[in-house]
This record gives sequence, structure tokens and C-alpha cells, in this order.
Amino acid sequence: MADRLKQLQGHIGPLSGNFPAGMFAGQTAIITGSGQGIGAECAKLFAKDGAKVVICDIDGAKAEATAKEINESGGKAIACAGDVTSQEYNDELVKKAAEFGGGKIHHLVLNAGFTWDAVIHKMSDKQFDAMIAVHNKAPFMLVRAAAPYFRLTDGENRTITTISSTTGVNGNAGQLNYSVAKSAVTGMAKTIAKEWGPKFGVRANSIAYGYIQTRLTASKESGGFATFGDEKRGGSPLEAAGAIVALASPLMSYVTGHVLMVTGGRNM
Ligand SMILES: NC(=O)c1ccc[n+]([C@@H]2O[C@H](COP(=O)([O-])OP(=O)(O)OC[C@H]3O[C@@H](n4cnc5c(N)ncnc54)[C@H](O)[C@@H]3O)[C@@H](O)[C@H]2O)c1
Repeated sequence: MADRLKQLQGHIGPLSGNFPAGMFAGQTAIITGSGQGIGAECAKLFAKDGAKVVICDIDGAKAEATAKEINESGGKAIACAGDVTSQEYNDELVKKAAEFGGGKIHHLVLNAGFTWDAVIHKMSDKQFDAMIAVHNKAPFMLVRAAAPYFRLTDGENRTITTISSTTGVNGNAGQLNYSVAKSAVTGMAKTIAKEWGPKFGVRANSIAYGYIQTRLTASKESGGFATFGDEKRGGSPLEAAGAIVALASPLMSYVTGHVLMVTGGRNM
């Protein structure tokens, strides 16, 4: 069976060179947690298709490195380092993105996050609250801060994507805090879709990933491999990012309020 990842890489080509006008030309995207992993690949794909991208990460060096890679390859990116759990930072992010985007922002990818696992009877309040802060309160604060750039009737393609997990949909032993937080962001996307869809045309969707091979999962025991023919593997960050960009694309103009399972067929 053909390797699906190779097919995708072949289709996208290298990051360098050949930046087309693309389907996001003239649009601006903020991607939180884009210093590495799924977010970084997502930023590169948006840029490759013409978007100006704002790289947001608590790790400033990684945010700068992603922005540099995009700019040196012919794309357009700025780094804006900070902690998404701070309202001040979210306000600054929106301000910088709007300046960079010539007064417009089109896409938010609410991707920043991490896990802090424990079995229920050993989970501290701190562990629980940390998951709500980064996965729920932070995206809420960014969406609220960006509201003036989304509640518009100019007919442009605007999307908001929340990042969930199979843990949010199915639960997972040892991850009560993460499962609570990740199930909430599916409701968040649907609510945005209902509130800002009919009048302003904003589409909001959620993606529930299975096992994607990033730093987040590197140290964990994984039972999450999907099988492709002889091949048994997790998803790559590029494959995960591809789903975000696909949902944001104008080809998905009639898709909103949806939770897309990106699992390589696992958990069907
Ligand atoms: N990897 C998987 O298997 C998997 C599965 C389901 C869901 N997810 C979700 O996908 C998203 C991306 O995860 P990843 O696998 O790419 O992980 P990752 O650790 O490679 O990247 C996450 C990025 O978010 C940043 N970040 C964390 N807290 C932040 C904060 N407070 N402010 C700003 N930036 C912050 C980190 O510095 C890091 O660069 C997360 O929301 C994660 O929960 C991942």
C-alpha cells in the first residue's frame, strides 16, 4: 500500500521556493503553539498557500525559528512570543496580527497546549486548573479579543479551529483533566459557528487528533498507532496540520460546527 505520508509530502513539496498566490492570499492567520509540532507545520502550510502567519508560542526561540524558516522560504510570518493564558498577551497578539495583516485577521488556530496526566485519585487541583487555563480559557480570551476582526460582513473567508483530541471525545484513563478540557473545545467551536456563522459567515470547527508524533506524545507510552497496510504508525505533524488547513480552505465553505476525527482510521 502506498505510503500516505509520502503522497502528502509529494503533493505539498518542499517549503522553500514556489510560494504561489494561494488560496489564503491576502489573509492573515494566528496559530497558537506554532513554535513546533502540529502548530509549526500548520503555520508553514498556511504560509505556503499565501497567508501571512503570526507565530505564537511561549517558547520565544522556537517561535522565532519557525517565523525565520517561513520568511527565508519566501513566505510571510512574524513571531509573537508569549503565554496564551494571559489576556494581555492575547490582546497584544491580536493587535500585532491586525497590524501585520493590514487591518484584517482571517483565521485563528487555537492549538497551544500540553498534557499533565494523573489518575483521578491522585490528580491535584493545579493539574486540573492548568488544563482548563491553557485549553479553554486561553482560546476564549483570544476569540473574544479578535471578535472585532471576525464580526464583519465583508464576505471574506474567516475560520476558527479549536484543537481537540480523541481523549476529549472518548475519554482516556489518566487524563481526566485533559479529557474535560478537550471535550469543551468542541462545544466552543459549535457555539462560535452558531453565534458568528449566520450573520458574519465565520466557520468554526474542531479537530480531534488521535496519536500524532510530536514532543507532546514523545515521552508517552503509545497504544495509538494506526495501520496502513504493513505500516503501523502514528500521524506526522504535517498530516495533522493538513487537516487544519483543509478545514480553513474555501473548499470547506459549507462545513462548520464539525468535529473532524484525524486518527488514521483508529477509533472508528
Ligand atoms: N500529538 C498528539 O498526539 C495530539 C493528540 C491530540 C491533540 N493534540 C493537541 O494538539 C495541539 C498541539 O500539540 P503538539 O502535539 O503539536 O504538541 P507540542 O508540544 O509539539 O506543541 C505544542 C506547542 O504549544 C506551546 N504552548 C504550550 N503552552 C503554551 C502557552 N501557555 N502559551 C503559548 N504556547 C504554549 C508549546 O510551547 C509548544 O510549542 C495541542 O493542543 C494538543 O493537546 C495533540
